[in-house]
Amino acid sequence: MEETSNSINSRRRTLRETLGLGRRSLPDGLTERLQHLSALDRVTQGLAKGVRQVLPAGHPLRDLLHGVPTGHPLHPPLATVSLGCWTATAVLDVIDADPRATRAVLATGVMSALPTAAAGIADWSVLHREQQRVGFVHSLINLAALGLYTGSLWMRATGRHNAGRTMGFLGLAAAGVGGFLGGHLAYRMTAGPSHAETLTHLVPLGWHDLCRLWDLPDGRPVTRRLGYIQLFVLRHGAHVKVLADHCSHLAGPLHQGRLVLEKDEACVVCPWHGSVFRIEDGAVLHGPATAPQPAFEVNVRGDGVVQVRPRQS
Ligand code: FES
Repeated sequence: MEETSNSINSRRRTLRETLGLGRRSLPDGLTERLQHLSALDRVTQGLAKGVRQVLPAGHPLRDLLHGVPTGHPLHPPLATVSLGCWTATAVLDVIDADPRATRAVLATGVMSALPTAAAGIADWSVLHREQQRVGFVHSLINLAALGLYTGSLWMRATGRHNAGRTMGFLGLAAAGVGGFLGGHLAYRMTAGPSHAETLTHLVPLGWHDLCRLWDLPDGRPVTRRLGYIQLFVLRHGAHVKVLADHCSHLAGPLHQGRLVLEKDEACVVCPWHGSVFRIEDGAVLHGPATAPQPAFEVNVRGDGVVQVRPRQS
């Protein structure tokens, strides 16, 4: 028994060594290699640029696909519909359920994959290079899963039920690998979560002295540090507006962004991927960001000291 386990361990070591993964686990090593696979860049950069040309910053469809109207990314909930339907298909196949019910569930998964992919592609087009490499392979594998499930549906509809089931199981395996890479992209590479959410937790409650009013330039955003975090500070005359400086999308430096008027309201455009935030309260007017930018309340003391505290929602 001990000998068997030793031989399995030694085979695993050999595989890791062959793949050059060192002491990392197989999934960790493979995803890390994928992140650094610069050979994909020509394709990914070209495709991403094409998507951004078709759906430029501020385009209503692009905002919809990012999830701006709901304030939450659209791709993850849509993906759960496709994956849920495909998992249900496998269960129905295993218990030999009514073929019509199985086909209906499978068809729902196939149809929901189209808006899921559209939302994912919109998000993917405005990611960092390493994230785009992983996202590209994630989408290729999911495309293969979609092809297998479409084939499975066709086989079932034309009476070749067993072949349809086999293709369905192969599709589930592909969708599982695609889902794993999607999870890696979202949780390890933080392609989806708000990058500004944690910032206000680093600021103790209460008012904090930030700077002197007249040390701030008029009409030009600058940064000021408040403890661990960096703030975007904009003065207009005696009025000061303060937001967290790192963009909620991927932490771009907002103080380097353009100031614009959007619906008669002062906004800042993130210099990295063009998210537009209202300066008054950090609300998102255009994506890719979906989470608002943390805003701070400001108090200018009689002696000209600007004080800030996180805005209570
Ligand atoms: S970092 Fe992407 S829009 Fe700001």
